[in-house]
Amino acid sequence: MARSDLLVELVKAGVSGDQASARQTAEAIAAEERAKKHSGVADRISKALTSAERPGLAGPTRQGGLRVRDGSGGIQRREPHRPLGELFLDRAIRDACLELIEEQHRADVLRAHGIEPRHRLLLVGPPGNGKTSLAESLAYELALPLFVVRYDAVVTSYLGETAQRLRRLFDFVRTEPCVLFFDEFDAIGKERGDLHETGEIKRVVTTLLLQFDDLPSYCVLVGATNHPELLDRATWRRFEMRLELERPSDDTMTEYFAQRLKELPEKSGYTARRLRAAVSPRNFSEAEDFFLDIRRHLALEQGRVTFRTLVTDRVNAWSSQRGRYGSDDRPADLASG
Ligand SMILES: Nc1ncnc2c1ncn2[C@@H]1O[C@H](COP(=O)(O)OP(=O)(O)OP(=O)(O)O)[C@@H](O)[C@H]1O
Ligand SMILES: [Mg+2]
Repeated sequence: MARSDLLVELVKAGVSGDQASARQTAEAIAAEERAKKHSGVADRISKALTSAERPGLAGPTRQGGLRVRDGSGGIQRREPHRPLGELFLDRAIRDACLELIEEQHRADVLRAHGIEPRHRLLLVGPPGNGKTSLAESLAYELALPLFVVRYDAVVTSYLGETAQRLRRLFDFVRTEPCVLFFDEFDAIGKERGDLHETGEIKRVVTTLLLQFDDLPSYCVLVGATNHPELLDRATWRRFEMRLELERPSDDTMTEYFAQRLKELPEKSGYTARRLRAAVSPRNFSEAEDFFLDIRRHLALEQGRVTFRTLVTDRVNAWSSQRGRYGSDDRPADLASG
């Protein structure tokens, strides 16, 4: 049974004809039922909501079952496999993620106090340091599917069409608890004040903000960007949590190397610190590439050289490559592999 205050809210909204409030309250009831594992009731409420007309948001067009299904085309659904514990994260970042996970897991407790769990998170930082991986890990820890927004299926050059597709996408997303991931979020959430942009991008960002406001808290929104300066200020404010995944410190990278060295089949002849200094990766992606490179050569050499020689050769190859491109001047894309 839904909480009495929510039921009273729903009746009030219905009687006064306040559709926005009715919708919000119904979504809160659905979320509460879902948290109590009453997914049958929750699904029926969600379905009733998505098949209702939504003036003010969707215009006069009916948001019927077909339209909802259409919205799924803008999404790539992935089952997450990566636990949070596998990522090397600063303590503050890890703690913030654990807070979000706890709030989501214990949403019913919060809602009993009239508070919604936080569910809008922006990940900022240079390439190759775990923004995409962290979105996957959050989905894994929350036991939710990861819905990756496919810009190729959402963004079109036809006036008004992108905003409409976005609305359909969100209508679809709302039907199920999930982690909704906007990778390279700056591609769509750009600064509205940019003089070079047409009215189209403004309309898209406005739609996006409305949809963000309207997103129920059982849908966790994760945006990722290497270019936070391109984001619209109002968009930036919509995210309740903003986490910076910086380039890892030498100590963190050394821990990463120690872990990877342990997974190698034999002793490499290097300490983690010495190997990290020799390889000098600029981000985790590059470090990961180095160890993959070792494993690839190990497989192909088939015992023709000793393991230590093989590692030394790969270190030398990486150092000379760095010499060629310059350690700090490599384009970020190249550095992130
Ligand atoms: N913090 C981390 N701990 C362990 N591995 C990591 C970490 N960050 C990144 N990696 C590894 O580096 C690779 C690239 O990471 P990821 O794609 O998540 O980075 P990103 O920040 O999304 O980069 P981009 O901005 O280019 O999209 C992944 O395969 C992942 O395994
Ligand atoms: Mg990424």
